[in-house]
Amino acid sequence: MKKPIAAANWKMNKSIEEGAEFIKELNPKIKKIKNIETVICPSFPLLTELKKIPSPVILGAQNAFYEDSGTFTGEVSPLMLKGLCEYVILGHSERRSFFHETNELINKKIKKALEHGFKPILCIGENREENSEGKTREVITKQLSECLKEVKEKQLMQLDIAYEPLWAISKGPQDTSTKSAVPEEIESIHSLIREWLSNEFGEKTSKEIRIQYGGSVKPENASELAKQENINGFLIGGASLKVDSFYSIIETLSKTKK
Ligand code: PGA
Repeated sequence: MKKPIAAANWKMNKSIEEGAEFIKELNPKIKKIKNIETVICPSFPLLTELKKIPSPVILGAQNAFYEDSGTFTGEVSPLMLKGLCEYVILGHSERRSFFHETNELINKKIKKALEHGFKPILCIGENREENSEGKTREVITKQLSECLKEVKEKQLMQLDIAYEPLWAISKGPQDTSTKSAVPEEIESIHSLIREWLSNEFGEKTSKEIRIQYGGSVKPENASELAKQENINGFLIGGASLKVDSFYSIIETLSKTKK
């Protein structure tokens, strides 16, 4: 199994200067943490500058298109990201809801990103209604099978899955009302994901795939969440925007997963 991962999803926040400042402040803190992979996914314009800063932080993008080039105004192709980042978040619920991304479109993006050697972080998760109607398992399984259609077993090793129940995702760093899902319930969904992977791609491969949890991960709940066997890391939004809270989560993950 790969090292556990702490991935920051900065969403549409931070200027180039603020991003650079953040990494410079984080660098000395994470130097001693060897058992965790720290990833930061900023907006596209920050990647070129952040890449220049020597750091153990690995960069990721928040999106990438499914064609190499062409008449697609406003899109960024994986070819343009080569050398700038290793990871790419795909299928985030905000892309699904605000930009109407479907499983079919996400599948195209996943395949293209894999073709170019990127490590996709595939986000899946149910909304509140689906959750309260008891449809979580059904939704998750459908998302997995449609988003990973025709992905080869060998390529799958490059990929992470992030389970992010939509109702647990915060509205930003000031949001104190949204609550993370209960650790034991998340664990049961993560083991369902693992089981699905095992059935589709074999047990050995399924054990190699990290399953991250995302949705109001904070310094206060990181320890309880990290104790769950099938939570192999976090995708962190609001709490990743401040060095102190992001680092605190990384440190907790590092201690708990020893
Ligand atoms: P949050 O965001 O940590 O602010 O809930 C997580 C995400 O959307 O990836």
